[in-house]
Amino acid sequence: MSDKPRLWITRKLSDATIARAERDYDTVVNHADTPGSADDLIRASAEFDAIIPCHSEHFSADVARQLEPRLKIIANHSVGVDHCDLPALRARGIAVTNTPDVLSDATAELAMLLMLGAARHAVAGDRIVRTGAWDFWSPAFMVGKQVTGARLGIVGMGRVGRAFAAKARGFGMDIHYFNRSELSPEDAQGATWHSSVESLLGVADFLSLHCPATPETTNLMNSGRFALLPQGAVVVNSARGALVDESALMAALDSGQVAAAGLDCFQTEPGGNPGFAAYDNIFMLPHIGSATTATRDAMGFRALDNLDAFFAGNRPGDLL
Ligand code: DGY
Repeated sequence: MSDKPRLWITRKLSDATIARAERDYDTVVNHADTPGSADDLIRASAEFDAIIPCHSEHFSADVARQLEPRLKIIANHSVGVDHCDLPALRARGIAVTNTPDVLSDATAELAMLLMLGAARHAVAGDRIVRTGAWDFWSPAFMVGKQVTGARLGIVGMGRVGRAFAAKARGFGMDIHYFNRSELSPEDAQGATWHSSVESLLGVADFLSLHCPATPETTNLMNSGRFALLPQGAVVVNSARGALVDESALMAALDSGQVAAAGLDCFQTEPGGNPGFAAYDNIFMLPHIGSATTATRDAMGFRALDNLDAFFAGNRPGDLL
């Protein structure tokens, strides 16, 4: 019997991550790659000292209450931890970590793709060429919205928000942001701080959401707030689906208040919102912001670094 800590990896992580985990831990991987149910998590807590889950495994207060004392640490393979009830897990004495920093660039790249795709009719344009229906061209055809020189509003200037701002600066955008506190000049890099979301929305020709999902940010973008945007704004969400009231978004698209949206996150995942399918001006991807080879390895290694620190008796770098 191995004297290494027993580790359960709930989903198919990168090959390099699994190889390192198997070298250093008594590891079981869910090669079926199915999301872990509440029962799976509770059962695993009796057999494993550690779990590396993804945002697809929900450690609710109810699950936390039923976890067995064997489980010592949940080393998330994600930066977002809205799938974990942190107070409930802390109350059980379970350490919880995440993987910040390493996915900021990949997620910011995807936000840029969403913004450009939404602004320039990527969905309708791709379809018309792909289906052989492209039989006409005119200067008035598929005219979009230019990002160069436009005002970009960023909600949440954490690591991903700042990485997105850096990329948008390369596109010549005028960057504004809302954050609870104003950034240092070094971090702001000339971006203009707004002390309220409402003030930011008033200047956001393009709006990109980069804040976590919390009870305070649920339905952050509701009908009242969509109405504050400049007419014809483009809205991007690569953070969490909970931030956007999806019915309000459809109403804002119907009225033209919002010209287009780029979404990688939805209230219901997997699946998305079937109502969105009728909108050619919503450019959608299936929650793949951090899905690059380099970033998947980096996320896996960061989760393992946290485990290594924990089992060496040290404080994990990303302890929440
Ligand atoms: C994250 O890390 O939070 C991403 O959304 C992937 O889970």
